[in-house]
Amino acid sequence: MPANILVLDDEKNYLLILQSILEEEGYGVTALSDPEMGLAYLEDSEVDVVLTDMKMPNLTGQDVLEHCKKNYPHIPVLIMTAFGSIEAAVEAMRIGAFDYITKPFANEELLLSVSKAVQYAATQQENIRLKREIRDRYSKDNIIARGKGMQQVMDMVDRAAPSKSTVLILGESGTGKELIARAIHTSSPRREGPFVTVNCMALNPGVLESELFGHEKGSFTGATAMRKGRFEQAGKGTLFLDEIGELTPELQVKLLRVLQEHQIERVGGTETFDVDIRIVAATNKNLQEAVAKGEFREDLFYRLNVVSIFMPPLRERREDIPLLAAHFLEKYTKENQVEIKGFSTAAMDYLSAFEWPGNVRQLENVVERCTVLARTDTIHADDLPPEIKDEESQFKSAVDLLPTKLNLADTMDKIEGALVKRALVRTDFVQVKAAEMLGLSKSNLQYKLKKYGLKAK
Ligand SMILES: Nc1ncnc2c1ncn2[C@@H]1O[C@H](COP(=O)(O)OP(=O)(O)OP(=O)(O)O)[C@@H](O)[C@H]1O
Ligand SMILES: [Mg+2]
Repeated sequence: MPANILVLDDEKNYLLILQSILEEEGYGVTALSDPEMGLAYLEDSEVDVVLTDMKMPNLTGQDVLEHCKKNYPHIPVLIMTAFGSIEAAVEAMRIGAFDYITKPFANEELLLSVSKAVQYAATQQENIRLKREIRDRYSKDNIIARGKGMQQVMDMVDRAAPSKSTVLILGESGTGKELIARAIHTSSPRREGPFVTVNCMALNPGVLESELFGHEKGSFTGATAMRKGRFEQAGKGTLFLDEIGELTPELQVKLLRVLQEHQIERVGGTETFDVDIRIVAATNKNLQEAVAKGEFREDLFYRLNVVSIFMPPLRERREDIPLLAAHFLEKYTKENQVEIKGFSTAAMDYLSAFEWPGNVRQLENVVERCTVLARTDTIHADDLPPEIKDEESQFKSAVDLLPTKLNLADTMDKIEGALVKRALVRTDFVQVKAAEMLGLSKSNLQYKLKKYGLKAK
């Protein structure tokens, strides 16, 4: 599709000439002599480049430029000025015109400027498209949240996203803290701004400080140029401070100041800068305990903990496991270009019963490994890594799932009944086979069938 150029000039003759030059070059042109109509046209049409005269009645080229900067910052604006009014051209460039052309001009001059603007518009649009694609990847649609625990998390995301409040995400390693931090950013009004991550544990304290705050040229050996820190880079966006529990006391004080004053000072600098950021922090530490032990500042804790989101461990939301497993299976079969239909019942039983100390990340790794190593188009129990099939851990997780208040004899009966039923289902209700699976004599099994009101062949 040819680029669409909106041309605004109150001199009708000039307008016609511009239109014919541009159309001859293959551009789509909308030529209007009334700039107000031009603004209305921008509102509901796809315009790639605006070419506007400076001096017009009603609205000037500068008004058009300012309107575009505010509402359509991705559209480059070219300004035409009369010969001799260089100040106007300079002013236009200052407020962000893409280029200016002095009338009268040679056709080639005009076409060169327009073609540069069209190219620029194309890159801008491509960047916007890529950003959207990344946003969709981290959108809430890609977060599995079937059980009540994650439903509550998603509800908090929806409620916290619109504001600028600091959010603290708590939870064990691998529960999805970073995923939720990104979801907050992409559901917030800052979604077009940057999402910048800093892992407070990965860097030593000195490096971390200059990483966060930036530094002035010459502030330390090796600081050969000024560098903006992450606080500045995250301007108009979201700064994700991961592993916040690892901040040293000095950096805790400095972060507290940023949260209170919304201002930063670069390392080795004297000037203060305003920063417009939203902070989302995460940790797998128990921060309240750290506060009690004097390892984490109480005032900083309260500043961070305006809204807190707790990520439940995977073993406390087992209803999510089948969907998560299917989600990762789809991801890795696509990535590795293999065809695997799904999991056998036995394999899924193992996945559902496991303790998952490494939470969702561990499940993801197991599924990835299975997609690579599976021998058939179904993942069977044999394909699972041995630790998943560990009996100890299965018992523990089964016990964890039981209600806390219970009578031993009643509970044992319930479990026994459920196991007998499961053996029947697995053996197609053939008594001899079920008895063998359970390690019972045939008469003993018959007694239990009666006791639990079960029938078999
Ligand atoms: N509910 C979910 N739906 C889909 N994918 C998920 C979900 N939760 C986590 N994941 C995936 O699991 C992996 C681990 O999640 P993430 O990195 O967000 O965890 P984390 O809590 O930040 O872990 P750590 O504390 O180790 O940094 C990621 O690949 C993430 O996309
Ligand atoms: Mg993380």
